[in-house]
Amino acid sequence: MPSFPASFLWGVATAAYQIEGAAAADGRGDSVWDTFCRLPGVISGGHTGDVATDHYHRWPQDVALMADLGITAYRFSIAWPRVQPGGSGPANLAGLDFYDRLTDALLAAGIRPVPTLYHWDLPQPLEDEGGWLNRDVARRFADYAALAAGRLADRIGMWITLNEPFVVTAFGYALGMHAPGRALMLGALPTAHHQLLGHGLATAALRAAGAREVMITNNYSPAWPASDSPADVAAARACDTLQNRMFTDPVLLGRYPDLGAFGIGPDGLSWVRDGDLAAISAPIDGLGVNYYMPTRLSALPDSPLPFQLEPIPGYPVTAFGWPVVPAGLTEMLTSLRAWYGDALPPVYVTENGCSADDVVAADGTVDDQERIGYLDGHIRATRAAIDAGVDVRGYFEWTFTDNFEWSEGFHQRFGLVYTDFDTQRRIPKASFAWYRDLIAAQRGAG
Ligand code: FCB
Repeated sequence: MPSFPASFLWGVATAAYQIEGAAAADGRGDSVWDTFCRLPGVISGGHTGDVATDHYHRWPQDVALMADLGITAYRFSIAWPRVQPGGSGPANLAGLDFYDRLTDALLAAGIRPVPTLYHWDLPQPLEDEGGWLNRDVARRFADYAALAAGRLADRIGMWITLNEPFVVTAFGYALGMHAPGRALMLGALPTAHHQLLGHGLATAALRAAGAREVMITNNYSPAWPASDSPADVAAARACDTLQNRMFTDPVLLGRYPDLGAFGIGPDGLSWVRDGDLAAISAPIDGLGVNYYMPTRLSALPDSPLPFQLEPIPGYPVTAFGWPVVPAGLTEMLTSLRAWYGDALPPVYVTENGCSADDVVAADGTVDDQERIGYLDGHIRATRAAIDAGVDVRGYFEWTFTDNFEWSEGFHQRFGLVYTDFDTQRRIPKASFAWYRDLIAAQRGAG
């Protein structure tokens, strides 16, 4: 493995609803995911995050394992419904206490805490008022950000506002396979703007509370045309606009990309008000890049979404069926640099990893060689982007322990640590030792 800069952050990433469990503990309110998981048939196996990996109670053991892993940063998310069970008003102190204890334990272990304020768990009372379709939720998000940072920014310098707002808009409000399960197609577009406005208002609130570095995390995927026909090339460009540009141009350039491919003219975004783009494009200190795979697209005429996904032949696939294309990460990082030039802040790979059909062998070990191969390829791909001139400053593997994988329930295992969901026993996999050795070698080399 080539060496990385000494200051490069080596981390893992998690999200509150996927690990914490303790859904009703210490005054936590329901989020849209609690509600969604109760609907029959929407989550594989009927699973829920009610218990998840019980991290809310087992966090000391998890932090000890992280210390053993040797990570220098930990990206986790704060559950809005723990901090504001009703989505507004004063903080639920018991909820903040949890993140306070976690923060102190991480710092004592030499691990930099990097919280994400919103990893999809909107308080249900806010969804009852329209959720992200309601502009007012952006302001509420900033209020919540102020409460969280008011408690923690004396010890936490680096903050992430939103995780993957594209997925919230696309899966949550346009297609309906994620909470809150709305299927509004292009009617979901206001949720993109309101999340971005929330990011902008929260950025100001975080800075006012003393946060030193503020970032947003998006999921990015190179959009490859299925053929060189003009129709497929246009389809790929349309998908690229929606996934890669629509949640980044407003933040870095202060404007929306051309949405003509969706029949939306320059004045078509009627929900954008004067001043919004100035708030959204307030300077940030880092861009979080989540990368899993490229996307291949062909044209889909006479549809509100003028493209469809095509398989990507010729690559191995993960247990999820996702193609393994490390070069896609280099391509994505260098594309961001090419698109945004000096407007691109330092970049952090805030998620990257793979699911595998991990099994515990008779001797009690989990030999996840595919994951090691995946991570090795993608970490090298990250180094290749640095060599190509992209200022990448950290890599956060997704994820620490096997956990609740949204619509897939507990069926996709992404962890460096195997979770036995019946006993909550943690078993570090072969990839855990591999990543530990990589970090140790890099820190020794740095
Ligand atoms: C990302 C999510 C994360 C996890 C991975 C596999 O889209 O941010 O919570 O589910 O996918």
